[in-house]
Amino acid sequence: MSVTTAASASASLAGVEALRRQDPELAEILLGELERQSTSLQLIAAENFTSPAVLTTLGSPLANKYAEGYPGARHHGGCELVDVAERIAVDRAKALFGAEHANVQPHSGSSAVLAAYAALLRPGDKVLAMGLPHGGHLTHGSPANFSGRWFDFIGYGVDEESELLDYRRVRELAVTHRPKAIVCGSISYPRHVDYAAFREIADEVGAYLIADAAHPIGLVAGGAAPNPVPYADVVCATTHKVLRGPRGGMLLCGAELAERVDRAVFPFTQGGAQMHTIAAKAVAFGEAATPAFTAYAHQVVANARVLAECLTAEGFAVTTGGTDTHLVIADPAPLGLDAKAARGLLAGAGMVLDTCALPHGDLRGLRLGTAAVTTQGMGEAEMARIAGLFGRTLRGSGEGEGRTVREEVQELVRRFPPYPG
Ligand SMILES: Cc1ncc(COP(=O)(O)O)c(C=O)c1O
Repeated sequence: MSVTTAASASASLAGVEALRRQDPELAEILLGELERQSTSLQLIAAENFTSPAVLTTLGSPLANKYAEGYPGARHHGGCELVDVAERIAVDRAKALFGAEHANVQPHSGSSAVLAAYAALLRPGDKVLAMGLPHGGHLTHGSPANFSGRWFDFIGYGVDEESELLDYRRVRELAVTHRPKAIVCGSISYPRHVDYAAFREIADEVGAYLIADAAHPIGLVAGGAAPNPVPYADVVCATTHKVLRGPRGGMLLCGAELAERVDRAVFPFTQGGAQMHTIAAKAVAFGEAATPAFTAYAHQVVANARVLAECLTAEGFAVTTGGTDTHLVIADPAPLGLDAKAARGLLAGAGMVLDTCALPHGDLRGLRLGTAAVTTQGMGEAEMARIAGLFGRTLRGSGEGEGRTVREEVQELVRRFPPYPG
């Protein structure tokens, strides 16, 4: 990709000429990554294309500012403007999700979860969360993560037949183990979560309810998924994924927990806030409050539904038989391949995605998301086409109408560029 094309493709790369002069090695990496993202299909469920406005904010002089503490109570001078940026981010997050309090400082989704635990729990406390083999995140009790080392996690799962959350079993485990907190949220559960059912179980055993809504929070912002805020004591989220903001985390809670949550972020688990990211979160929240974003969130779900249906028609086993969200979990086993081999073949054809644990046995499936392709403007027709390209790739019939799958992917992304120049 030429410098001119790349620079016009994204406002954040406006300084790329200067970077190229100073550090051509790194400039090539930036431009190469832009090219990779623009010439292949991004189906990783946790990724999206932020707007040029968000990218510009991330690459702004706000990145230079140190700002430990909170607006009006900083440990550094010169925070007048970044204080305003953080207040705007907080106010917009509160309005968007109907929360009494928002903390927009967590550096990531994992930092947000760590802070939620720090606010509500003590080391050694029992926590009931989705088991990792069923779709729990690392921060939901993995022995390789702080969560598994510092807390006593009990895992719940999904019903073997339906692959849907088994609320009866969640209740049984809660009654047996009497956890201090129950976590609902997953990296791969494609259906809506019944937050009211979780609240009822938590109330019955006197547990806190923590909703880790990292995946669906963007759909919540666009009115395309239920809002956990009225039910959970603390909601943890990421600001990237469907929400289409910068990489980062966020916490939402009621006024009574506000101080504990704030102290759990700073000074307990983090130091200086990253003001460029916080300002970029404010920009993304502003975008997410528009009718265009509501339409986008609903299109993300409509696209995922069609993708799930068409993958089923291609022979994939789609978990839960479909989706309510941006997530589709598809097992390629009926096509004679395991997920790792399938991911490799699809990547070779220009379709980038992840594998994840399947909710039964110890096999893995393909995890796809429609957030990025929907931002590019693709709709149901393109989802059907993508499913067809998956089928051709994995059945080894890559040639079709004289064109390879890779060529068809190239043609598709050329029609729907992530950053139209
Ligand atoms: C449910 C859940 N929680 C937490 C996280 C962690 O987010 P991060 O990668 O920003 O730490 C993720 C990320 O995918 C997630 O899906």
